[in-house]
Amino acid sequence: MSSLRDKVVLVTGGAHRLGRAVALELAARGAHLAINYHRSAAEALDTARDVAGFGVAALPIQADAADPSQVDAMVERVERDLGRIDHWIAAAGVFRRTPVASVTADDWRDMTRGNYETLRVCAERIAPTMVRRGGSIVAFGDVGGIRPWADYIPYCVAKARVMAYAAELAARLAPSVRVNCILPGPVLFPPGYPAPARQREIDRTLLGRAGSAGAIARSVAFLVESEYITGVRLPVDGGRLLR
Ligand SMILES: NC(=O)c1ccc[n+]([C@@H]2O[C@H](COP(=O)([O-])OP(=O)(O)OC[C@H]3O[C@@H](n4cnc5c(N)ncnc54)[C@H](OP(=O)(O)O)[C@@H]3O)[C@@H](O)[C@H]2O)c1
Repeated sequence: MSSLRDKVVLVTGGAHRLGRAVALELAARGAHLAINYHRSAAEALDTARDVAGFGVAALPIQADAADPSQVDAMVERVERDLGRIDHWIAAAGVFRRTPVASVTADDWRDMTRGNYETLRVCAERIAPTMVRRGGSIVAFGDVGGIRPWADYIPYCVAKARVMAYAAELAARLAPSVRVNCILPGPVLFPPGYPAPARQREIDRTLLGRAGSAGAIARSVAFLVESEYITGVRLPVDGGRLLR
């Protein structure tokens, strides 16, 4: 039986794409899900309906995960309706091309807020209770946070901060809370991502293909269920980091 059975998991950024895949994978293993969304209400309702199809609780919940008062309200609601948070998957992120020649202060603010502040603000609210009860956290970094791309520097810097902060959390919250970071490679490209750039990214993997959302979701489940793993950065990138 999965160690996730009847655990309560919060997925921030859980409405669609990778967050949705993670929610469905954990639901299939018997976890109850709180599915946080920011703007994608319809997608969150769809995901909640599909999660509930596994016979577990599914709570779609709107909040800006970088806003402390909204995060307070979200966590209170999850604790009231589902009892507690055993595991938290921090999948929220913002990604856009920001070439060095035209990068703006808004680009830096948006990338920092969407990728790093969504982790830090939630961690400050969730960690103190989780330390008392035990649990685990999985943050979403990116291989670009280790080997940055010139046209995406604010995003890559934000992901580097995510990875550094996740390592710091792992040290600070041990031994009762494990904290790990997953580094997806090219998996789901944003809508409108140019085909030649897409192919270039795929060609840079050792495996010569894009990953699937399911592969990321199963790797997240592995980190949640692995009771002796904490503080790791796990690339799930087809070998992209080596090229
Ligand atoms: N896709 C890939 O191949 C890939 C590769 C490397 C790393 N990653 C990382 O993996 C994670 C998931 O990727 P993805 O492609 O599924 O991401 P995505 O399509 O960009 O979706 C990001 C999610 O983050 C949520 N979000 C953004 N700002 C938020 C905020 N302030 N509060 C709450 N939620 C917020 C969005 O919610 P709403 O839609 O509800 O507004 C959305 O559901 C991200 O951290 C991403 O950087 C992805």
